[in-house]
Amino acid sequence: MNAAAIGNGDKLSHIRVSGLTKRYSTSRGEVLALDDVSISIGAGEKVVLLGPSGCGKTTLLRCIAGLESPDAGEIEIDGKIVYSSSMRIHLPPERRGLSMVFQSYALWPHMTVFQNVAYPLINARVPKADIEARVMAALRMVNCDIYADRYPSQLSGGQQQRVSLARAIVGRDETVLFDEPLSNVDALVREQLRNELAALQKKLAFSTVYVTHDQSEALALADRIAVMRSGRIAQIGSVREIYERPASRYVAGFTGAANIIEGRISSVEKDVAAVQTAIGPLQVRPDGLAADQAISIVIRPEHLQFSDARPAVNAIRGRIELATFLGVYTEYILAAQDQRLVVRSTRPDLLDEGSEVWVTLDTKHAVTFATDGGHE
Ligand SMILES: Nc1ncnc2c1ncn2[C@@H]1O[C@H](COP(=O)(O)OP(=O)(O)OP(=O)(O)O)[C@@H](O)[C@H]1O
Ligand SMILES: [Mg+2]
Repeated sequence: MNAAAIGNGDKLSHIRVSGLTKRYSTSRGEVLALDDVSISIGAGEKVVLLGPSGCGKTTLLRCIAGLESPDAGEIEIDGKIVYSSSMRIHLPPERRGLSMVFQSYALWPHMTVFQNVAYPLINARVPKADIEARVMAALRMVNCDIYADRYPSQLSGGQQQRVSLARAIVGRDETVLFDEPLSNVDALVREQLRNELAALQKKLAFSTVYVTHDQSEALALADRIAVMRSGRIAQIGSVREIYERPASRYVAGFTGAANIIEGRISSVEKDVAAVQTAIGPLQVRPDGLAADQAISIVIRPEHLQFSDARPAVNAIRGRIELATFLGVYTEYILAAQDQRLVVRSTRPDLLDEGSEVWVTLDTKHAVTFATDGGHE
């Protein structure tokens, strides 16, 4: 079992997935979509699954929902085993106490907005007298009560996605699974819906597993992020841990822009290690490093700072190739020897393209990986 993938507070976990494996057979052989995945999600916790296309995000969500039948492992929801290969348990989706929001809104076209949202309540045999109030309350929460009598085809994409959110929360399930729910709406509506969703989660406190490949969505919505790669969880941690302490170059690259500088350690002392790189000597934290090792230094664009004079340590000389004013900060592309560095700076004066500048990197924000140690 992948120990790194198990979350904190196992006892309190609301969803516990252990050793989950799922293979699909195709005409060209088997696809290992999930490879021994273990993850725990606490009550009320928001976990985001992040990773490239085909890494197994949807498969993991569908296995939790009961829409897919795994080959091995166990899934427990709220203390109840809903899937176990060894005990031969496989509860159908409707007995798992969760709802799911899909990328395509999946509303019934022949039903009105009201009827769509009422559907899960009718299925769950909620007394008729309660249905109207609950449907309207859910629609109000997503600002769609005025559309109750319309058909989905009479709504915009953003409005349809709001209605599918209402349908997901109307049952008051303790878990809502989201599979890229915002990828079909345009950028402005996406940001608005993302904020509404965050507010809704706070208010209703349901547990969430949320699939996306949008990094900013992941950073905004998650308590913890699980970065997936080829059917496995590469790293799971708090948003800050994943961003500031990525465990591999792969994770660093998947959670926001990162500069990667290759080098070789020349000496290791108590507090610093000296590294020779093509853009000059740099200092990094010495933890776990040895002299003569080849390493990659990962540094975020906001952790490279301009300096008016040559910095005493970690001095990097470069020429500004491109300056892009982006409102809150300006993004610079810097050429230092053959290396291109991205620098994000909030200093108010704009530095001219073509000018020679000094930048320095903050040793405490630099993360290092042994290049030949299997950390890709
Ligand atoms: N029904 C299926 N039959 C065969 N292979 C499948 C099936 N569903 C998924 N796969 C394969 O399993 C792997 C994982 O697919 P999955 O849909 O979980 O990826 P994903 O991470 O959700 O990707 P995306 O971001 O593109 O939605 C892929 O290689 C995919 O081709
Ligand atoms: Mg998918």
